[in-house]
Amino acid sequence: MRENNKPTAITSVLHEKRVFPPTKGFSSRAHIKSLAQYRKLYNESIKSPDRFWAKQAKNELTWFKPWKKVLQWKEPFVRWFVGGQLNVSHNCLDRWLDTLTANKAALIWEGEPATDGKPGEERVLTYKQLHREVCRFANVLKRNGVHKGDRVLIYLPMVPEAAIAMLGCARIGAVHSVVFGGFSAQSVADRVFDSQAKLIVTADGGFRRGTVIPLKKNVDEALTLKAANGDLLAKSVEKVIVLRRANNEVHIAEGRDVWWHRELDYVDAECAAERMDSEAPLFILYTSGSTGKPKGILHTTGGYLLGVKLTHKYVFDIQDADVYWCTADVGWVTGHSYVVYGPLANGATSLMYEGAPNWPEPDRFWRIVAKYGVTVLYTAPTAIRAFMKWGTEWPGKHDLSSLRLLGTVGEPINPEAWIWYHETIGGKRCPIVDTWWQTETGGIMITPLPGAIATKPGSATLPFFGVVPEVVDDEGKPVPRNTGGKLVIRKPWPSMLRGIWGDPRRYKEVYWSEVKRSYFTGDGCRQDADGYYWIVGRIDDVLNVAGHRIGTAEVESALVSNQKVAEAAVVGRPDELKGQALVAFVTLKSGVKPDHAIRDELRQHVAKEIGPVARPDDIRFAETLPKTRSGKIMRRLLKQIASGTEIKGDTTTLEDFSVLAKLAQSEE
Ligand code: WTA
Repeated sequence: MRENNKPTAITSVLHEKRVFPPTKGFSSRAHIKSLAQYRKLYNESIKSPDRFWAKQAKNELTWFKPWKKVLQWKEPFVRWFVGGQLNVSHNCLDRWLDTLTANKAALIWEGEPATDGKPGEERVLTYKQLHREVCRFANVLKRNGVHKGDRVLIYLPMVPEAAIAMLGCARIGAVHSVVFGGFSAQSVADRVFDSQAKLIVTADGGFRRGTVIPLKKNVDEALTLKAANGDLLAKSVEKVIVLRRANNEVHIAEGRDVWWHRELDYVDAECAAERMDSEAPLFILYTSGSTGKPKGILHTTGGYLLGVKLTHKYVFDIQDADVYWCTADVGWVTGHSYVVYGPLANGATSLMYEGAPNWPEPDRFWRIVAKYGVTVLYTAPTAIRAFMKWGTEWPGKHDLSSLRLLGTVGEPINPEAWIWYHETIGGKRCPIVDTWWQTETGGIMITPLPGAIATKPGSATLPFFGVVPEVVDDEGKPVPRNTGGKLVIRKPWPSMLRGIWGDPRRYKEVYWSEVKRSYFTGDGCRQDADGYYWIVGRIDDVLNVAGHRIGTAEVESALVSNQKVAEAAVVGRPDELKGQALVAFVTLKSGVKPDHAIRDELRQHVAKEIGPVARPDDIRFAETLPKTRSGKIMRRLLKQIASGTEIKGDTTTLEDFSVLAKLAQSEE
C-alpha cells in the first residue's frame, strides 16, 4: 500500500528550510573565499564574457597558437577561441613534465577483484608515467591506421587504460566515443554505425561483483549485427585492440584483432601532440533523448577543456595535496569531465575504482577512502541512498577524517540523503556541492562554490561563471520566484555541446526550438526567494534511473522489437533507492498469453537490446493501452497508475484500461 503521508523527494524539497553557510576554516583556504568574490567574478563573466574567458583561457591553458576571436555565436552554433590551436593531452600531461607535478600521482587505481577483507589490486601512475603510456598508445593507434579526425570507439572497464585510450586519441586528434561497459552488443553496433568508427578498443573482460563481463565477446557479436537492409552495422571497423584484463578466453580474428600489450612492443614512447583547432571534435558521447535513437553529443577541444578545468578547480576547490575521487564510470560524461579531463588538466590526483560499491562488502567505498586518504569525494544520490539503506555501521568501521569536501551529481538529491551524507560521511565538517549539469553542457553549470556559497539540502544553488539560467513558462517568459517552470540557459558557454553528430537539424529541434533563443535543458526547476535553483527532474520523456539517463522511447522500441509484443509504453515511477524506476505497460500480440516467462523474457530482451541499466523494473500487461482520440498514448494516466496505489504482486494479470481511459479522456 502507498503510504500517503510519507513525503516524496519533491514535496520535502518544497519545505526544506535549512541553510549551511561555508565554515570559516574552509573559506579562508578556498580559491573563492566569499559570496562577494563569487558575485564579482560572476558579474564580470556575464557582463564582459569576451574579456573574462580570454583571461581564463590564457591563464589556464597552453596554446600552440593564440585565438583570433573569443566567441562566435550564430545561434544555435557556437565557436570558442576561433583560430586558436592546442591539444588536450598536451594540456593534461606534457604541461606538467617540467614541474614538481611530474612525479605526483595522476591516477590511483583500485581494481575490483577482492575476497572478503582483502583489497583488490592497485596501480599508481605519475604524470610522467601516464604521459609515457599515452604516447605509446597513441603510436599504437597510428600503427593501426588511425588518423586525425577518425572515430575510435572505446569499450573498456574502469581501468587506467580507459583514460590512456581517451588521451591517446586526443593526442593524435582522433575522436573518441566511449561506450559504457554495461551496454550491449547491439548498443555497440548502433554507436559504431552512427559514428562510423574505424577502430574499437576493448578488453577481454571486466570485473563486476565478482563476475566477468565478456566485453570482447560483445564486440565480436556487435561486428556481426545487421541493419534492416541487411548491411553489417559495424562494417566501418577495421581493427580491434584488445586489452588483457580478466584473462578470460577470447577469440582473436587474425588481421583484425590485436593485443594491446603485444602492440606496445612495436612502438616507442615519443609522440608529439597534434596541433588541434580549438573547435576540432574531441569526443562523441551517446546519450538518451526523447526519441528511440540515442544522440551522439559532440564536444570539441578548447572550450570543453577550459570549462571542465575551471569547474573542477573551483567547484571541488582543488588543492595540490588533494586525493580526489569521482566514482563515475568513464562511460558517462561525469567520467570524461571529472575523472579524466578536468582533474588531469589541473594536475590533480584522480582516483579510479573498477567495481561496485558493495563488493565484496558494503564498506568498499569507505575502505578506499581510508586507504588512500581521499579528501574530495564526488558521487551520485543513488549511491548515497543505497549506503543509507545498508546502514551506518559500514562507514562507521573506517576512518573518514581525510575527507574535506563532498559532491553529488546525476539526479536531484532528497534532503534526507543530503543530511545523511553530510553527517555520516562528512562528519558535519565537509561542505556538499550538489552539482547540476548534463552530457550536453560538458561541465558543471549550477553548483555551490564551497568556500563562498551557503548550501541548502536539495538545491544546486547558483550558476557557475558564464552560465545564465532562467526558469520560464511554456511561452518562454520568466516565471516569478517560487514558481515551477522549464529550466533554460540563455547564453552560450565554453563547454556546451557543439551539436548532435551528423544531425544538425535534430540538434536545433531538440535543444533550440522549445523555448525561443534559449538552450532547453529538459529539466523542470524552481528558483526560491534567494535566487537558488531547485531542479525537480526531467519534464521530457527521459527518465533518470539510478543516475542513468534512459529515454522511454528507447525502451519502448526495444520492447516492440520482440515478436510477441504489439505495443508498449514506458513510464517512470518514484523509487526510494533509484530515484525513478522503469514501468513498462505491454500489449501482447493476439494469441500470446501473458505469464511470468514472457515477463522475464521481455526484461532480458531489453537488457540485451540496450543494456542491463534499461531493464524494466515492472512489466504490466494490458489488453489495450489507454489512448486519446488522436491516438496518443495517455502517459499521464499511465504514470499515475504506475506510481499509484499498490503494485500488484502478480504483474501478469491483464489490466483493463478501457474504463479509466474513457474517464480520463473526458478530462483531456
Ligand atoms: C539530472 C549527468 C538534479 C538532470 C552529469 C539532468 C540532476 C540529467 C543533477 C543529466 C543535480 C544531473 N540535481 N538533477 N545535481 N545532476 N541531474 O546527461 O535531470 O547523464 O538533465 O549528465 O541528470 O544527465 P546526464
